[in-house]
Amino acid sequence: MTTTSAASAAATAPNEPIAATDATDALGTSAARARSAVLEERIRREPGRFRVLTGDRPTGRLHLGHYFGTLHNRVRLQNLGVEQYLIIADYQVLTDRDIADRLVEYVEGLLLDYLAVGIDPDRTTIFTHSAIPALNQLLLPFLSLVSVAELGRNPTVKDEIAHSRQAAVSGLMFTYPAHQAADILFCKGNLVPVGQDQLPHLELTRTIARRFNDRYPAGGHPVFPEPDALLSAAPLLLGTDGTKMSKSRGNSIALAATADETAKLIRGAKTDADRHITYDPRTRPEVSGLVLLAALCQDRDPHRVAEEIGTAGAAALKRTVTEAVNEFLAPIRARRAEYARDLGQVRRILHAGNERANAVADATLREVRSAMMSLY
Ligand code: TRP
Repeated sequence: MTTTSAASAAATAPNEPIAATDATDALGTSAARARSAVLEERIRREPGRFRVLTGDRPTGRLHLGHYFGTLHNRVRLQNLGVEQYLIIADYQVLTDRDIADRLVEYVEGLLLDYLAVGIDPDRTTIFTHSAIPALNQLLLPFLSLVSVAELGRNPTVKDEIAHSRQAAVSGLMFTYPAHQAADILFCKGNLVPVGQDQLPHLELTRTIARRFNDRYPAGGHPVFPEPDALLSAAPLLLGTDGTKMSKSRGNSIALAATADETAKLIRGAKTDADRHITYDPRTRPEVSGLVLLAALCQDRDPHRVAEEIGTAGAAALKRTVTEAVNEFLAPIRARRAEYARDLGQVRRILHAGNERANAVADATLREVRSAMMSLY
């Protein structure tokens, strides 16, 4: 799937402005968008020149927002022949104590979700922070290359601190973006598919790569690439209450939910009093969110989906959405259940990924130490 008709319609929909506003400009969104179009073209021509590093914090089950936002893009890149590394960021998640207590469950759940949507462990290396010592060691020289003021200015970190339920802000909160640079650079990733909120981290990664290469010239062969962000044109998917689909808001349809749970969630979704169903995200966010969900699942234009329902009202809309979502997720859910029956195999897949990531991290650390003249 390249861009679905629903995704392209949504990309130009009123709730997803292409022109950057002041707020998004601060993150460099418009420049990243323009660059991403150029990169897409190059990826199609020469997939072998790219190495993708991307990943998630293990914070619970992935939902349809993740699927249409990032997962399908990862599967697409993988299937285009781009080499891909997928990190389960189990150290980054330690910024949140509640999640840290349920880590094993979340890590295995994330793995199951990846495998269910079509991430192929033979082509994509899946691994965890905690199993890759050499990756983590990169954090020390990297921290020496950034100032405390720079770390404190990161808008995404500031936002997370503002919304944190923790009594005190940990040192990890300020340093995890430098750690994320190690995630990307340990394998010399040169392409990072991200959402807007991750752009400051990617900018820091580029800064660290550049400063490292300048300070430790390594005989004229720079050790690290300056990775590019690949912003996807993914639509903003709304949850069943008409606000952004998010685990913490209880409005998301998990990939792993049952058909009945899905039906119940959609039955309870917010709509409005107008029986004539239309797709107009600006004036009717709740109804349009549901229409978009069906459209994405059926790979159709949301306006057509709305037209077909016409004046049949919210109940008919909900039936259409439930059917579309459950039909779309059926094969994904079946694959997930199959893997879940053999967790031994799932753990072996992670071990194999960790082994591959360790070999790559060891080689990079050796180069780094050589460039730093600290191979004793
Ligand atoms: N910070 C990312 C998130 O919250 C997860 C992540 C960790 C990541 N390391 C990464 C993303 C490296 C891209 C590249 O979703």
